[in-house]
Amino acid sequence: MTSLFDPLAAGALALPNRILMAPLTRARGTRGHVPTPRMVEYYRQRAGAGLIISEASPISVEGAGWPYSPGFWTEEQVAAWRPVTQAVHEAGGRIVAQLWHMGRVVHPAMSGSQPVSASATTAPGEGHTYEGKQPYVEARALRLDEIPGLLADYATAARNAIRAGFDGVQIHAANGYLIDQFLRDSTNHRTDAYGGSIENRARLLLEVTRAVADAAGADRTSVRLSPNGEVNGVVDSDPEALFTYAARELDKIGIAFLELREARVSGTFLGSAQPPVSPVIRRAFKGVLVLNGDYTPEEAAEAVAAGKADAISFGRPFIANPDLPERIRHGFPLAQPGAMASWYSQGDEGYVDYPRYDAAAA
Ligand SMILES: Cc1cc2nc3c(=O)[nH]c(=O)nc-3n(C[C@H](O)[C@H](O)[C@H](O)COP(=O)(O)O)c2cc1C
Repeated sequence: MTSLFDPLAAGALALPNRILMAPLTRARGTRGHVPTPRMVEYYRQRAGAGLIISEASPISVEGAGWPYSPGFWTEEQVAAWRPVTQAVHEAGGRIVAQLWHMGRVVHPAMSGSQPVSASATTAPGEGHTYEGKQPYVEARALRLDEIPGLLADYATAARNAIRAGFDGVQIHAANGYLIDQFLRDSTNHRTDAYGGSIENRARLLLEVTRAVADAAGADRTSVRLSPNGEVNGVVDSDPEALFTYAARELDKIGIAFLELREARVSGTFLGSAQPPVSPVIRRAFKGVLVLNGDYTPEEAAEAVAAGKADAISFGRPFIANPDLPERIRHGFPLAQPGAMASWYSQGDEGYVDYPRYDAAAA
């Protein structure tokens, strides 16, 4: 029976355990989206993860809607990421970069231009800006002649991540951001080759994945999807058909792993009335499958032992437990993360001040 502490080969990545750190936006970059020194310490502390998936990191100004998120489109950003990857490697860890374009969830106060999406739609609620939250504005449909430029932005960001020392990249195609806005039919009303049928709605995801795989190597490229439930106003009427197709096609590209963030009915991050699609995707996708969302260590061990997943990624547990794999290995108690305000604040507090478990003191 496979345990969380059995090694795992995911493409070119050799993972010593199956407890992965899920991507967590922490907003500790600069206003110019440059990584800061405190991020070096934060990621170093978490190097015991089988693999760290970095916080979502914009590929371009147009894609950057989260204040203080560190990006991948300038030389200054690449240079400031290097100490992060170096620290993780020196501590014996591995880290891939999550590449992000937020699409219609970018407020113009952040990017200086009208956001783009699959179609002219408006995200529900309010978007983040440096001046506080403001109602979203209507996005315009991405033009066909803009798609090559978008693919080039993804490829450049992937190359920049590799140049910055990352072991690979993850395409953020989940959670209602640009690629997900193309995938799911609540936000994709196009009538061209990128809309309508499942094949057409998955086209952008697959083109981005091929472009990134060409830049970083398919065996260092991963993809994150969120098949079930609504997020940022994005939902699909038939997630099983759509995401099974997407998973099969991603398999053909030979990506290192596929990660699914799935909500449960009573999920504490996001809930969903739609059932998880992962049991079906597990059969359609032959590569390494990582599951995420509300897993306890016990449930994670059970899922891996039962073959439902090859690994589990943990999000919130890694906020307050930098040494999460060691705690799970020894059955030490888990610390609880502090108030949500500290998740996205800019200081050290609630960020690098969670200690490792001290067995002697306990
Ligand atoms: C503070 C915070 C930031 C997050 N940032 C990201 C992100 O940058 N990219 C992403 O794909 N998911 C992000 N998520 C979602 C997590 O990766 C994960 O899917 C979610 O927390 C559920 O997993 P968990 O129950 O183990 O926490 C974030 C979640 C939290 C709580």
